[in-house]
Amino acid sequence: MTAAEHYEQAMRRALMLSGNGPTLGVNPRVGCVLLRPDGQVVAEGWHRGAGTPHAEVDALSKVDGRAEGLTAVVTLEPCNHTGRTGPCTEALIEAGIARVVYAVSDPGKSSGGGSERMREAGIDVIDGVLAAEVTEVIRPWLIATSLQRPFVTVKWASSLDGRAAAADGSSRWITGTASRQRVHEQRSQHDAIVVGTGTVFADDPSLTARGDAGELMASQPIPVVIGERPIPTNAQLRNHPAGLIETRSRNVAAILDDLFGRGIRRVFVEGGPTIASEFVRLRLVDEITVYLGPVLLGGSRTAIGDLGVTDIAGGHRLTITAVESLGDDLLITARPTTSLSRE
Ligand SMILES: NC(=O)c1ccc[n+]([C@@H]2O[C@H](COP(=O)([O-])OP(=O)(O)OC[C@H]3O[C@@H](n4cnc5c(N)ncnc54)[C@H](OP(=O)(O)O)[C@@H]3O)[C@@H](O)[C@H]2O)c1
Repeated sequence: MTAAEHYEQAMRRALMLSGNGPTLGVNPRVGCVLLRPDGQVVAEGWHRGAGTPHAEVDALSKVDGRAEGLTAVVTLEPCNHTGRTGPCTEALIEAGIARVVYAVSDPGKSSGGGSERMREAGIDVIDGVLAAEVTEVIRPWLIATSLQRPFVTVKWASSLDGRAAAADGSSRWITGTASRQRVHEQRSQHDAIVVGTGTVFADDPSLTARGDAGELMASQPIPVVIGERPIPTNAQLRNHPAGLIETRSRNVAAILDDLFGRGIRRVFVEGGPTIASEFVRLRLVDEITVYLGPVLLGGSRTAIGDLGVTDIAGGHRLTITAVESLGDDLLITARPTTSLSRE
């Protein structure tokens, strides 16, 4: 095997190890493999969450003595700052690492710049190995870190003709049990769930993440209500196990900033149509998941309202990344085709 093949193989392993880390919270999932010059694996590590050793330090801790002359293959550019743990660059330099191979640069304002620091210290640095694969896995963290706002997934369930509710406002249920179970899984993979006051008044949702038997899942995202009206004192949301953020505001961008400041990195927007449209109109959407139920409702209650699009050229173009059958429903996952901006 060539050195490049060893690095790619080790990067696949590092990517797999990174999957042991947590999906939620402020830190990314990172994996690291230490190689001898002949390509043999000496040690492996991964990051287990904020406040615990980073993947590189975890791997180094498993090497007897110094790691002189070894190559560190790591999914993310080693960090260059002191947060709750020390900079990984200094740990690698101190350990005598000869070469660092990484996939994706760290876009963090304070944590980035690790490659320059390591090059200055005489470490050979190679970047971009399996960059596309790693980017896909940590896309939410990369987007949140570079835009300094949470990664936003907007979800809705609609009839095949794009309606989110019937004329009387009832929307339970447009889709079947398999879809609704998937929504619960999606909730548990986010830090926060956002709804508008309209949905709270219409549906009084509990917004907990529940398993097949109705039991609470281990991970419960905090519900966030957008809108100026106070929600009823007896709203189910007031008993949510993760608490409740009642914003009493319509300013979506400012609310996202506030959530980011609270350490929230993944937000799941569950509607209703007014709120979902506002996120789309402001281009504050990174992923869209649409559950399509095989029913026609007609009428004016469209899943997305006016976006200010006046001609076809101004449409919000999407790239569909997955289409799945769930019972009788379809789940379509898409993302904006154009690059994102921080408006
Ligand atoms: N099919 C689905 O996936 C789905 C999901 C959820 C809900 N629904 C259905 O949707 C219906 C409720 O729809 P909805 O559109 O009224 O609910 P909504 O989007 O949850 O809430 C709308 C409310 O949010 C507030 N708001 C916050 N930011 C705003 C902004 N930037 N611009 C305008 N208003 C803002 C306003 O109330 P304030 O006066 O308080 O500011 C507004 O009345 C119900 O029939 C429900 O069953 C369907």
